[in-house]
Amino acid sequence: MSKECPKGRHGKKSNHDMINLMDNVDQNDDLRYNRRAFIKSAVGASMALGLSTVPFSVRAMIGIAEPDHDRVEIIDLARLPEGEAFTFNYPTENDPALLVHTVKGELVAYNSACTHLMCPVFYQKEKDILLCPCHKGYFDVSNGQPVAGPPQRELPLIEIEVENGKVYAVGRQYRHG
Ligand code: FES
Repeated sequence: MSKECPKGRHGKKSNHDMINLMDNVDQNDDLRYNRRAFIKSAVGASMALGLSTVPFSVRAMIGIAEPDHDRVEIIDLARLPEGEAFTFNYPTENDPALLVHTVKGELVAYNSACTHLMCPVFYQKEKDILLCPCHKGYFDVSNGQPVAGPPQRELPLIEIEVENGKVYAVGRQYRHG
């Protein structure tokens, strides 16, 4: 509330007093509106940020497949003998991935950006393991889980299918955050 100005020297409010009164009203209103606008925008920004991270967090916590990725042909299985790996991109051109035909005859695929600092991982057939050479991070080739070195999270799993001698990528799973 603005403070009431006392009457001027001649019993009337002077022009100067009126200007001060108007200034105070405007300043108080400005402060109130600015504070309200700031609080509204801060609350709005926090909610938007929180909501935008929910789908990823929930998906990561419960380990479900991402919806609706295209079915993409990777390679003819005949071109990938046991002990060999093949690089491709999935689900977008910006997601490098590795299909491995392990020495034990398993077919597995993961996004190949290391979960430590994003260097590409490679299949080391001599040890039947995935290696990130940047800081010697190792992942179990059978499930993509980190087993040694700095990485703490597993590699995202690319779901694959084999049909008529061709290997297809059909989905991706984040198993936890
Ligand atoms: S980037 Fe892979 S271990 Fe550091």
